[in-house]
Amino acid sequence: MTDYILEMKNITKRFPGVLALDDVSFRVKRGEIHALVGENGAGKSTLMKVLSGVHSHGTYSGQVIFNGEEQSYRNIADSENAGIAIIYQELALCPNMNIAESIFLGREILSKSKLINWSEMYKRTNELLEQVELDINPETKISHIGIGQQQLVEIAKAVSKNAELLILDEPTAALTDKESEHLLDLLRQFKEQGVTCIYISHKLNEVYNIADTITVLRDGQSIITSKKEDLSQRDLISHMVGRELEDMFPRVYQKPEDVVLEVENWSIEHPTIANKKVIDNISFSCKKGEILGIAGLMGAGRTELIMSLLGHYGKKICGTIRMNGEEVVINNSSDAIKKGIGLVPEDRKRYGLVLHQDVKFNTGLASFNDLSKNGLINDNELISLTNEQVNKLNIRTPSIEQLLRNLSGGNQQKNVLAKWLIRELSVLILDEPTRGIDVGSKIEIYNIMNDLVAEGLAIIMISSELPEIIGISDRVLVMHEGKFVKEFSKDDVTQEEIMHYATGGI
Ligand SMILES: Nc1ncnc2c1ncn2[C@@H]1O[C@H](COP(=O)(O)OP(=O)(O)OP(=O)(O)O)[C@@H](O)[C@H]1O
Ligand SMILES: [Mg+2]
Repeated sequence: MTDYILEMKNITKRFPGVLALDDVSFRVKRGEIHALVGENGAGKSTLMKVLSGVHSHGTYSGQVIFNGEEQSYRNIADSENAGIAIIYQELALCPNMNIAESIFLGREILSKSKLINWSEMYKRTNELLEQVELDINPETKISHIGIGQQQLVEIAKAVSKNAELLILDEPTAALTDKESEHLLDLLRQFKEQGVTCIYISHKLNEVYNIADTITVLRDGQSIITSKKEDLSQRDLISHMVGRELEDMFPRVYQKPEDVVLEVENWSIEHPTIANKKVIDNISFSCKKGEILGIAGLMGAGRTELIMSLLGHYGKKICGTIRMNGEEVVINNSSDAIKKGIGLVPEDRKRYGLVLHQDVKFNTGLASFNDLSKNGLINDNELISLTNEQVNKLNIRTPSIEQLLRNLSGGNQQKNVLAKWLIRELSVLILDEPTRGIDVGSKIEIYNIMNDLVAEGLAIIMISSELPEIIGISDRVLVMHEGKFVKEFSKDDVTQEEIMHYATGGI
């Protein structure tokens, strides 16, 4: 048997107007953790979809050799049967199913009478959840658990399939540091058990932490494959972006002016537990020209806070919001849009985009009222606004008529931003804005944030990436269990201090 569990040779894959993979060759040694890195749109996910049969044999050219034999998978079931499990970048669980149903979807455990053996399925699920150290009832619905926990459910699902090759496409994009560490530990355990792993990530620290070998893709071509030890992070980045990058956090500070947003005594009751508060009497304000960072662990209430400001939790809220000194009532997102508040949500697929619509539609998404006259949308104006944003944000797409689901993850995220940049905003709320964004594009996004605050916008940014929170905020508020427990100015904030307070230190 060869040393290589997988050899992909001369893979070329085209989509209309896009050469996504251009003669890529990629080999993975048995038992290693092989990181696949590259900019947004470089072709990483596409290469994995070729491997797993999502892009079926015949829709690409080149060879896929798994365990020494050439493969021609027609669909994902074929690759699964061969021992390949893939966890997608865009999580693919059904929100209405419970955890056990999701894990055993299509492979339900049946009793002798050919009915679903629920007790066995819940028992198995409990064991799997224990293996990924997720302490939760297997009957919980997917829609009731956060994106981080969904990720662990996906991993449990892969474990249940006893895969020989495990592919993780940006598994930690949505996880906190602690959860990510937990995941990396799991991967190390899998490796000890002989599982081979392909690991796609934009988090280069993680790549250096976990990988044995690194392959860089750029513009659909494989640029280099190297042992981790032989490739410095600096060289890796320049292979990825094709140039040297200077400052990771190019922040230009303004002198923050008048307070634009004030939130006072803001509380949200827990949806089911009486007398428990998800957000507990929070007050804060944000000024024009300021970037306010909100740090905290997953579950601290950061996302709940900003979703509630936009009216998401209806009557369970009390407190006041003032904009430019005047009290405002925001019952839903259209109220928020009218008041000049924009949100780039944490879960872009659910709340930020319409995936089966195109770039143009998604750019206009919050502005159709303003772009319409007598019920008709001014298409020319929308086209020119969209083109402007595609250029400004460097959104990689063959045209503005491309459907969003065909864009790479990072380019989808830029489109969410585009939706707000065509409007006049006073406050822009960004929830994990650079999740799944490559190093070069991150800097582009920070520069756009710089421009926006220079124009007088107030930006509130939630981020789990501490270097980003520190590198880009004027002020940082740390949240713990629904309260702000500490405020730092940009000059006295450190990662250690943030973690201290975020984990409940006093
Ligand atoms: N189904 C599709 N139809 C049309 N174009 C597609 C499709 N899938 C991917 N592409 C295009 O192929 C290119 C490679 O995309 P891919 O998703 O593989 O990038 P990626 O490296 O995974 O990026 P990211 O880091 O943003 O996830 C992009 O230009 C993308 O828009
Ligand atoms: Mg991808």
